Amino acid sequence: MDNWLWWRDGVIYQIYPRSYMDSNGDGIGDLPGIISKLDYIKDLGVDAIWLSPIYPSPDADFGYDVADYTGIDPKYGTIQDFDELIKEAHKRKIHIIMDLVLNHTSDQHPWFLESRKSKDNPYRDWYIWKDAAPGGGVPNNWHSVFGGKGWEWDENTEQYYFHMFYKQQPDLNWHNPEVRKAILDVWRFWLDKGVDGFRLDVFNAYFKSANFENNPTKLLGLTPFFRQHHVFDLDQPEMKPLLNEFREILDEYPERYAVGETFMADQERAASYTGEDKLHAAFDLDFLKKPFRPGPFYKAIQHWEQVLDDKTWPNYVLNNHDEPRSATRYTRNEKDDRLFVLAALILTLRGTPFLYYGEEIGMRDIPIKRKEDVQDPIGKRFWPFFKGRDGCRSPMQWNAGPKGGFTSGDPWLPLHANTSFRNVENQQADSTSLYHFYKRLLHIRRESLPLRRGMYMPITFEPRRLLAYTRQIGDETVLVAINFSRRKTGLVVSSSITRQNWELLLSNKRTKLPVVSDRKISLAPYEALILKTV
Ligand code: NOJ
Repeated sequence: MDNWLWWRDGVIYQIYPRSYMDSNGDGIGDLPGIISKLDYIKDLGVDAIWLSPIYPSPDADFGYDVADYTGIDPKYGTIQDFDELIKEAHKRKIHIIMDLVLNHTSDQHPWFLESRKSKDNPYRDWYIWKDAAPGGGVPNNWHSVFGGKGWEWDENTEQYYFHMFYKQQPDLNWHNPEVRKAILDVWRFWLDKGVDGFRLDVFNAYFKSANFENNPTKLLGLTPFFRQHHVFDLDQPEMKPLLNEFREILDEYPERYAVGETFMADQERAASYTGEDKLHAAFDLDFLKKPFRPGPFYKAIQHWEQVLDDKTWPNYVLNNHDEPRSATRYTRNEKDDRLFVLAALILTLRGTPFLYYGEEIGMRDIPIKRKEDVQDPIGKRFWPFFKGRDGCRSPMQWNAGPKGGFTSGDPWLPLHANTSFRNVENQQADSTSLYHFYKRLLHIRRESLPLRRGMYMPITFEPRRLLAYTRQIGDETVLVAINFSRRKTGLVVSSSITRQNWELLLSNKRTKLPVVSDRKISLAPYEALILKTV
């Protein structure tokens, strides 16, 4: 189909494996569970799955602390289960993206266990070790994202090691060529297994300045980490040549892909890491912070469009495993009107949409009420100011059963109380549900060249109500008009639009084409209207 490229024309669905589907009743999702849901995923209409980490891990940060880069944690299954997942996914033309966490390992990784044994251990220089500052104390002012100083004292060898996240996540020393080689072997291991791509966790933090200068500080920011300009511990110049090397490896295989999580980066910075000899994409996480108004979304889209050139490709994200779900950010009740609006937005923009499991049924965050229930260590640490990230990681709501169809055992996090009515089974049975709207949008996007590839051209935006744009390629145009408000609104269109003949592609509020020739299209409250030229 018109040189279809899965990561550019398709849609990527993030699964948090702990919470998707449990096949063996231990309360934790697993690979056989995911395999059993591949038909569901295929039928929904996505093209790829990004799996949050499934490697052996002591779970200090639920998998983002890896103890073996080429293994599968037994709680998720075996390497045979993984091979089976690849085989079954590929059979359905679903691609698999692994999460590579390469800024740091677990402190239980054999490399670190060796490294901390002695100063002359061959693995010592695989991590970032430093003497105390003259007169004692930490070597410099670098902090941990998750609170406290970034340096941990090791009694045994009398040096500090650096950890940008938890102390159980020591940072690798990327300046060491042996580390580089070992990691590139990991890349080849998974690529040879048939994995289609990687999501690179905080890749722009791999290199730290070799001179360990103090970061300049600033006044505002919630914690000391955020009150620094990260001049010396993020975005170092060594990153670009490494990305070139990553890309060379990927390009040895057909149609492989890498998307980077650009940590603390603005859109310019993210864009600078993508291109033909760098990453295919770097996340733009801007949408996760926007209030529910067309103005801020419009500006974010415009800016992203401006900073990317014709060799790079945008992406859009409304949800992930680190932030409150969009349904929780934007709604205070069980009404889904605003979620229809957002679904239409994310699936009609120019760029790869990333969906997060449960977004398609409007899952809300589970409320976190008591400190003793918190699983996420940053929730424990910053309680009650920040309750951690458990809210958006609750089990997938498959049906109205007591455990939501997720497990026969005790789920590792509680199911949301709304599972009794908000679940896949119920929404599949209701043709007006959010699930069906996502499914239709995914189908429309797949069938529409303008939606997949067309130029993005804003028509108008009213900061509080309306966002409208066209997507155009050749002589085909799709018009998208989205009313963000709970009042009716009108879209004024130019004669270039009224002159054309239109057909209704989709709306959540009507089944017939509106009158376009009047130069004013009236939109119902929270209506997302999508038309195409005929
Ligand atoms: C970013 C990941 O998305 C987050 O979940 C994790 O805690 C940190 N990186 C550390 O790996």
